[in-house]
Amino acid sequence: MQVCRTIEELRALRAQLPAPVGFVPTMGYLHAGHLELVRRSLLENAATVVSIFVNPTQFDRKDDLEAYPRDVPRDIRLLEEAGVDVVFVPEVEEMYPNGFATTVHVSGMTDVLEGAHRPGHFDGVATVVSKLFNIVQPDRAYFGQKDAQQVVVVKRLVADLNFPIEIRTVPIVREHDGLALSSRNVRLSPHGRAIAPTLYQALHAAEEAWVQGERRAEVLRNLVEERLAQEPAIRVEYVSLADPETLQELSGEIEAGLLSLAAWIENVRLIDNIPLPPSKE
Ligand code: PAJ
Repeated sequence: MQVCRTIEELRALRAQLPAPVGFVPTMGYLHAGHLELVRRSLLENAATVVSIFVNPTQFDRKDDLEAYPRDVPRDIRLLEEAGVDVVFVPEVEEMYPNGFATTVHVSGMTDVLEGAHRPGHFDGVATVVSKLFNIVQPDRAYFGQKDAQQVVVVKRLVADLNFPIEIRTVPIVREHDGLALSSRNVRLSPHGRAIAPTLYQALHAAEEAWVQGERRAEVLRNLVEERLAQEPAIRVEYVSLADPETLQELSGEIEAGLLSLAAWIENVRLIDNIPLPPSKE
């Protein structure tokens, strides 16, 4: 496995890779969720590139950026064991040199959900993902359903800017108790960690109702909110039941939806979601 820190080195290594090339962009502190994306890429491509870059422009809070966990040596070990070909670990100055002045903005769908609560977040994501796509030039790129809105935004970006890249979505990897794996989970105290599975349980309660045939958006959303309200240590930021493509909130009888939430436990912000698929007929 080759590890490189500059764009120039990455381009030289990239030119030697067999096609097709799969790419997994990450911010590091890798867990089994990231490694599932890597596994999928290794399965489907002749070579796999992984990037590790804690992108400062997508953090709306300085304290969150500073508290973001990092362990690059460990990440590199895990990626080597997995069989990755190239790891790209640029410094901030390599990605954003003095004079950097361009922002990629995807409009509409970035104003809701995560975008509404984290101003500028998706500008940061769209800009860094565009840069990484131009640097790595992969045939396929892998994103987790964990960040459901990010997947929708990246697909829009790829279509609108004509990146010749296929976007592959990988389902959420969870702990045994249902908690979605996240680099932020390590910041929870034992007590916070113990109540965190409530987020999944709340979504799952609505999913079960969906499977039983409940189609009223308000009822489904309420099921999630009621379950979360039982746990005083959870501060809910939003519960949403939205159109899976436009991300606009739904009401009345629905055919399909994306149920998602963001909530604070202690000083940690967690997100989770469950797709409510259309019934097969
Ligand atoms: P990061 O949070 O490190 O996540 C990297 C990828 O791993 C994302 O596509 C994310 O959805 C996926 N992922 C995280 N937890 C997961 C889980 N439990 N199950 C499945 N997939 C999971 O997302 C980012 O970094 C950044 O925004 C990035 C795209 C790298 C741009 O900076």
